[in-house]
Amino acid sequence: MDALTIRNARAEDLPAIARIYQNAIRHSARSHYRPEQLEAWIGDYDAKLKNFVTRYLALVAEAGSGIVGFVTLEPEIGRVRACYVKPGFAGRSVGGRLLEVLEEQARGLGLARLTLDASLNAAGFYRKQGYIQAGPGYRVTLDNDVELEGIPMEKPLQS
Ligand SMILES: CC(C)(COP(=O)(O)OP(=O)(O)OC[C@H]1O[C@@H](n2cnc3c(N)ncnc32)[C@H](O)[C@@H]1OP(=O)(O)O)[C@@H](O)C(=O)NCCC(=O)NCCS
Repeated sequence: MDALTIRNARAEDLPAIARIYQNAIRHSARSHYRPEQLEAWIGDYDAKLKNFVTRYLALVAEAGSGIVGFVTLEPEIGRVRACYVKPGFAGRSVGGRLLEVLEEQARGLGLARLTLDASLNAAGFYRKQGYIQAGPGYRVTLDNDVELEGIPMEKPLQS
């Protein structure tokens, strides 16, 4: 893979971010959820992703071909809101690098720990990055009464 560059997301990255979001869910999470659950998870993503980029701390990973992953943090509450990698680039350390840089920035903001809701398919990935389960698994009800299970996780940040 070409060298990876991590930078702040810009408004013009939104179309690429939206593509990665949909493709990552449909491809990389299908091991753990039914098709109707994947579609409910994707949901009405336009406003949500725009909010991620304009209001949150959002980073993208760029390889030679363009954007291959993104991660977002709601800084006021230290909550990781998204971590998605283009399916063809999964398993090549893109997600890990994105989280590492996000955590460095979170430390710089004085945050002592990060929390997140992990999808079942991603819990192992977050465990590898040092996140631990922070409570019982949960179930949310999305559009059309589709239920989605997940795992609350957290990671203390060393200063
Ligand atoms: C989860 C996701 C972000 C991981 O990104 P990635 O770039 O493939 O992960 P990396 O290659 O950086 O993996 C880092 C480490 O985690 C491990 N890992 C990655 N995915 C894993 C998984 N599903 N289960 C267990 N371990 C996993 C890797 O083997 C690697 O371990 P190593 O450091 O020993 O080599 C990506 O697969 C994805 O976009 N999934 C779909 C969207 C999603 O579920 N996002 C999370 C929403 S909560």
